[in-house]
Amino acid sequence: MIVLGIETSCDETAGAVVRDGVDVLSSVVSSQHDIHTKFGGVVPELASRAHCENMLPVVDAALRTAGVTPDKVDAIAVGHRPGLIGSLLVGVAAAKALAWSLGKPLIGVDHVHAHLYAGLLADPGTTASAESKVFPALGLVVSGGHTSIYHLKSWTELKRLGATIDDALGEAYDKVATILGLPYPGGPNLDKLAQATGADERVADLPISRLSPTSLDFSFSGLKTAMLYEVRGVPDHPAHHRAESRYTPPPPLTDTRKRDLAATFQRAAAKTITLKLERALSQLRDSGIQPSTLLTGGGVTANSRLRQELGAFAKASNLRLHLPALKYCVDNAAMIAGIAYHHHQAGRGSDLSLEPVPTTAC
Ligand code: KG4
Ligand code: ZN
Repeated sequence: MIVLGIETSCDETAGAVVRDGVDVLSSVVSSQHDIHTKFGGVVPELASRAHCENMLPVVDAALRTAGVTPDKVDAIAVGHRPGLIGSLLVGVAAAKALAWSLGKPLIGVDHVHAHLYAGLLADPGTTASAESKVFPALGLVVSGGHTSIYHLKSWTELKRLGATIDDALGEAYDKVATILGLPYPGGPNLDKLAQATGADERVADLPISRLSPTSLDFSFSGLKTAMLYEVRGVPDHPAHHRAESRYTPPPPLTDTRKRDLAATFQRAAAKTITLKLERALSQLRDSGIQPSTLLTGGGVTANSRLRQELGAFAKASNLRLHLPALKYCVDNAAMIAGIAYHHHQAGRGSDLSLEPVPTTAC
């Protein structure tokens, strides 16, 4: 079965052709980084306009690269939630128009759930994981908009066990990168700096948020604020104003300190994630559920430190790890087409009343 996937939830216009849920025949991503760089973040209205311009060329390129004509497509899939409403609208309208004009089924999927699928995508000719070996699974999505843990029974039966109560991890990365004076996009630049030779990842004592002893939720605002104070000092510290000796202002933000703070932040961020994964796994096991797999996805799974920590956690916990290839960590349409195949197999589909929705399904 050949599925054409469309993704426009944020600032990437993407189209992909995927066979039987795993073979990626094409994955085309048109990034809008150049448009948003000068604003230091995504400007929703500019994103929607760029999607309008890029949508048809991207779909065309995806079909041509795959060597598939529109009549050979068996279904059209689209990420219809969550995301920026104007951006989603463009992808949903395009998917509906294609499905209607070609007389093919339409499948709307949740973008965050699709991130969980990204680690199963394979280039044609490579071996994909057998579906039967995936479930039950523990899932982790760490992106610019979401940080969530899931229990998955199948691709259509999943439960969110915890999520961030403030910033998403990618958002925290981007903000901390700004605090360190790094250019947009912050996450990848911070990661690069943290990997520089000689980086000391213990130059500050940063908080690893636990919330309550059993909580599976995340909070990154304390970590972000701690980084701000490491860089600028504590502005309302009373001793600061009285110039008392027990207040030590932070060292100057030299290139070396930036590098070390980046590495220290990265270590704390990764530890926060694995701590909650450990908790989630032990809670699932205590309730008689034995996950065999760890499914991961989202832009921050491209992070070098997190990839190492996830590998170590999965090994120690006896879980098969599905870590997406770097090209499938960030937003793409192959993951949309891939998970949509399983929705179709489970008898799920959408009709032309499908609407864009800003929030995730669960
Ligand atoms: O999944 P994604 O493309 O978009 C959303 O669905 O949100 O994730 C984008 C996020 C951005 O915050 C970006 O800074 C972060 O992923 N990111 C990284 C890395 N690569 C992308 N964060 C840390 N290290 C990286 N290597
Ligand atoms: Zn995403």
